[in-house]
Amino acid sequence: MAGEEREPLGVVGAGWVGLVTAACFAELGHEVVVRDIAPGRIAALERGESPIHEPGLGEALARNRQRLRYTEDLGELLEAARIAFVCVGTPSTPEGDTDLSAVWHVLDELDSPEEGLVLVMKSTVPVGTGERIRARFDALGLAGVGYVSNPEFLSEGTALLDVTSPDRVVIGAFADEDGRRVAAVYEPLGAPIVHTDVASAEMIKLASNAALATRISFINEIANVCELVGADVQEVARGIGLDRRLGPHFLRAGIGFGGSCFPKDASALKQLAANSGYHFQLLSAVIEVNELQKRRIIQKLQAHLGPLRDRTIALLGLAYKPHTNDMREAPSLVIAPRLLAEGAVVRAWDPVALDEARAVLGGVVFAETLHDAVNDADAAVIVTEWPELLELVSSDVRDAMRTPLIVDGRNLLDPAAARAAGFTYEAIGRPLALVPHPPRAKEPARGLL
Ligand code: UGA
Repeated sequence: MAGEEREPLGVVGAGWVGLVTAACFAELGHEVVVRDIAPGRIAALERGESPIHEPGLGEALARNRQRLRYTEDLGELLEAARIAFVCVGTPSTPEGDTDLSAVWHVLDELDSPEEGLVLVMKSTVPVGTGERIRARFDALGLAGVGYVSNPEFLSEGTALLDVTSPDRVVIGAFADEDGRRVAAVYEPLGAPIVHTDVASAEMIKLASNAALATRISFINEIANVCELVGADVQEVARGIGLDRRLGPHFLRAGIGFGGSCFPKDASALKQLAANSGYHFQLLSAVIEVNELQKRRIIQKLQAHLGPLRDRTIALLGLAYKPHTNDMREAPSLVIAPRLLAEGAVVRAWDPVALDEARAVLGGVVFAETLHDAVNDADAAVIVTEWPELLELVSSDVRDAMRTPLIVDGRNLLDPAAARAAGFTYEAIGRPLALVPHPPRAKEPARGLL
C-alpha cells in the first residue's frame, strides 16, 4: 500500500480495539492520530511501549511509527482527521446494562465539530445508541456531522489477523455517503462489506457474540452430560463440527468463557431485551451455565482430594485465554476465591499475566515458574490453555507434586499420555478412566427391572 495517498484517520481510545485498529490502518498507508486520556498511556506509546500484550502489535506499531501520532488532545485529532473511530471502553454497570459514560464523554468534548466529520462507532453499544447520538447532533445543529456504526469482531490473541483479514466488515449508516466513505477505508482488505442501517449493525455485533457464547455454553452442557453417560465431548465436538451447517468453531468445552466481551455483551443484550419488554430466556441460561461451569473445578478437586482445607492447589493460566495478559472476567477470578473459601492454599502461575493478576487476585501465592507452582502441590488445575502447559506431562512434574493430580479445565492434554506418565487426570466431558467403575452387582436390584 506504501506510496498510495490515503485519508488521515483518527482513533479515539488506545485500548485493544483502538490500538490494533490504528496499527492496521497505518499498515494500509493511512496517517493515524490516536487519542487517549489514561494517564501515562500516550507517553508510553510515544516511547514505543505497547500497553497490552497482543502478538505482533508492538512490531506493527514500531513498523508504522512514521504514520502514527499519539495525543491526549481530541482537538489535535480532529484537526488532522475527517473520519474518527471511537474505540473507548463500554463496560457493564453493576446491573448488567452498558456503561456508556466514556462514549458520552467523547461526545461532550466534540463541542463544535466541522461539517464533513464522520464519527464511526467501533465500541460495542446497545442498539439504539446511534439513534440517540444522531438526535443529539441534529439538536445541536450538526446535521453535517455523519455517524456510522462499524462494530469490531477481533479476538484477542489473533487481533491483527482478524482486522486485516476479516470475515466481514459491517457498516451501518444513516446517510449512504457516510457509509461509503468508511467502506473505502476497508476496501483494500477485500472482505465482504455489509451495508445496513445503524440499529441492525449494532444488533449484528451483540447477536454475533451472543451466538458464540451460546455455542460455548451448549457444548459445556453436552460435556457435563458426557461425563454422566461415558461419552467424550472432544469426539462429540469433532463429529458435530463436520456438519457443514454447524461448523467446528466454538465447540471447545471447558470451564466457560471469560474476557471483556462475551460476559458483558451477553448481559447487555439480555438487559437491552428486558428494558424493551422481552425476557431473553435462552441468554439467561447461557449466562447461568457459564457461571456454574467455572465452579465445577471445585467439585472435581473435592471428588479426588476430599475437603480442600490446607490442600495446595496450583492454578495454571490466569488470563482469560492464552496469548493475552487480559484478566477481565477471567475464570481464575472465580476459581481462586472459591478455593480460598474452601481453605485451600492457592499457588497461581501465568506466563505473561502475573503482574496483571497480582493487581486483582488477593490471597493467593504467585509462582514465578511453572515448576514452583506445582512443587509439592496436591493438584494442578489448567485454567487457561497456554501451550507451555503441555510440559506438565513429565516425570519431573509428577515427582515434584505431592499428589500427581491434574484437573484440565480446557481439555488441553492428551488423557492417555497424562495417565501413562503416572498422573491422575481429570478433564471436562471426558471419560474418567481412573475413577474405578462401581463393582457390577451380581443381581439387578429389585425395582429397577
Ligand atoms: C470475542 C469474539 O470472539 C470476537 O469476535 C469479538 O470481537 C470480541 O469477543 C469482542 O466483542 O470484542 P475474545 O473475547 O477476544 O473475542 O476471545 P474468544 O477467542 O472469542 O474467547 C472468548 C472466551 O470464550 C474465552 O474465555 C475462551 O476461552 C472461551 N471459549 C472460546 C471457549 O470456552 N470455547 C470455545 O470453543 C471458544
